[in-house]
Amino acid sequence: MTKSPNPLPQQRATMQVPLLDLKPQYKPLAAEIQAVIEKVCASQAFILGPAVKELEAAVAAYSQCRFGIGVSSGTDALLLALMALNIGPGDAVITSPFTFFATAGTIARAGAVPVFCDIDPGNFNLSPAAMETFMRKHCERRDGGLHTRAGARIKAIMPVHLYGQMADMRGLMQIAQANRLHVIEDAAQAIGSEDAHGRRAGSYGEVGCLSFFPTKNLGAFGDAGMCVANDPALAERMDVLRVHGGKPKYFHAFIGGNFRLDELQAAILNVKLKHLDGWTQGRQRNATFYDEAFARADLGQAVQTPAKASGRHIYNQYVIRVRDRDLLRQHLTAAGVGSEIYYPVPLHLQKCFAYLGHRSGDFPESERAAEETLALPIFPELVATQLQYVVDTIAAFYRRG
Ligand SMILES: Cc1ncc(COP(=O)(O)O)c(C=O)c1O
Repeated sequence: MTKSPNPLPQQRATMQVPLLDLKPQYKPLAAEIQAVIEKVCASQAFILGPAVKELEAAVAAYSQCRFGIGVSSGTDALLLALMALNIGPGDAVITSPFTFFATAGTIARAGAVPVFCDIDPGNFNLSPAAMETFMRKHCERRDGGLHTRAGARIKAIMPVHLYGQMADMRGLMQIAQANRLHVIEDAAQAIGSEDAHGRRAGSYGEVGCLSFFPTKNLGAFGDAGMCVANDPALAERMDVLRVHGGKPKYFHAFIGGNFRLDELQAAILNVKLKHLDGWTQGRQRNATFYDEAFARADLGQAVQTPAKASGRHIYNQYVIRVRDRDLLRQHLTAAGVGSEIYYPVPLHLQKCFAYLGHRSGDFPESERAAEETLALPIFPELVATQLQYVVDTIAAFYRRG
């Protein structure tokens, strides 16, 4: 066999590193998953059956909570939490402008006003210090509660644990308690993440909202989600609201919706949950590889890797801040490396929220994050050569100047 004069570059140009590939995760579980699907098919019991109950108990325990209420998506988990806490017209909820649309979208759909507070540039989450400054500047205290200057009663805060890393919940809970605010945690990206005190995402607030969208660390074969909670009365209210508020069936003391989790999805998730910790460890291992490989590449200020987390970061995404982000992304795409921008437009600048009256510059850290961040492939089945290829491709982009 004749030896290629330069085998490495040739080999490298053809390497493909997708942002996410779920097929290697499915393959070893295929027989087990098909068996549980068949079991549900044989039972022909598709709505709120034993698999949903089993998953609710297991995910609640995993999230250090007493109750789980399986729902149709992470979005519906947020909406259900807002409805259960009676948040609606005349109310406001403070949240982050740097998050997936559903966070603020559900607040608006509940009839309340999303009120944005800028993020901590270190972990991309709401921080207690920023929240306090925000409240001092933009809120007023009267009639025993906190109000926006426009007059809406602030009822709750909705912190987001972005990318799989928890916001400083201890500090945020203190602020919430001092101001008698409800707390709904958007833990859609953060199942099993922990803070420095060993507390898990979703266990601090009255409701924690999880998503099982296929790209999440625990992903369904379609849409699915869950509310986790500790208060039995609130859990019971969510349980009833997810079936149109009917209890007993066809008797409606209040108006809910159809927010049920499918039995088929629950059966699949019960199989997958057993592997979640292993997959999360794989993501953490890949994150460490990237951290070290970027440090070795010594790219100065061009690439900033995620700040070290003090608890358990589950790396639903591994997100770097970079110079010339959009050009780098084109370079990565040309080299066969998948990437994504989570999120290119902060929510205060979305057209549908123009009625809130925000302008560019209102939340500078969120706007800067939207311009600088890039998510790299991090799924657990990636191998070292692929990870190194991603780093080498990025290093080549900056070295060529
Ligand atoms: C932060 C955040 N909130 C809410 C959601 C909504 O979850 P779902 O897609 O399951 O409706 C997502 C999902 O992408 C999310 O990332």
